[in-house]
Amino acid sequence: MFTEDQIKARVRELGQEIRAVFGDGEFTIISIINGAVMFTADLMREIDNPVRIRSYGEQTKSVGAPQIVSSLTIDIKGRHVLLIDDILDTGKTITLVSGLVRKLNPASLRTCVLLDKIGRREVPFDADFVGFKIPDKFVVGYGLDFAERYRNLPCIGVLSPRLQNPTAWA
Ligand code: IMP
Ligand code: MG
Repeated sequence: MFTEDQIKARVRELGQEIRAVFGDGEFTIISIINGAVMFTADLMREIDNPVRIRSYGEQTKSVGAPQIVSSLTIDIKGRHVLLIDDILDTGKTITLVSGLVRKLNPASLRTCVLLDKIGRREVPFDADFVGFKIPDKFVVGYGLDFAERYRNLPCIGVLSPRLQNPTAWA
């Protein structure tokens, strides 16, 4: 779907878009790992503001609600926060994590996703910064996984339905 070069070019632009909105000041990046790990690592190098970085561990089950497996241990009260995830799908994960972040009284909260699967939303949610809008296909690579596989691919590709067999990977 996207080559390594296409991702790199878009991540660079996103860095500039973020910079244009946040100005020169310090802000705090919160990343939802593991999916957003590569995106966050590349995006943070395109932003030359002073930033603080922390992560949320999230585990998405195929059914049911997203689970937070490690929580935030940084004080974000009164701070400007940029919350990063790999992909916006039903909207449940980012809605849940945004709610947790908001409870900690940040000065502002903005969200950034590399991919936005439009037309899949179950909870209404618009991210402030979006890398690419994509159709409803299961994608892997550049941090995105299927059963923890394929995260290390430098590009993003559609996973063939014949490879989407969880029991074979268990
Ligand atoms: P949501 O809570 O349904 O918006 O889903 C967001 C999470 O589901 C992301 O953080 C991903 O971990 C995972 N996810 C959704 N779609 C895909 C996909 O196409 N490939 C890999 N992971 C996905
Ligand atoms: Mg995820």
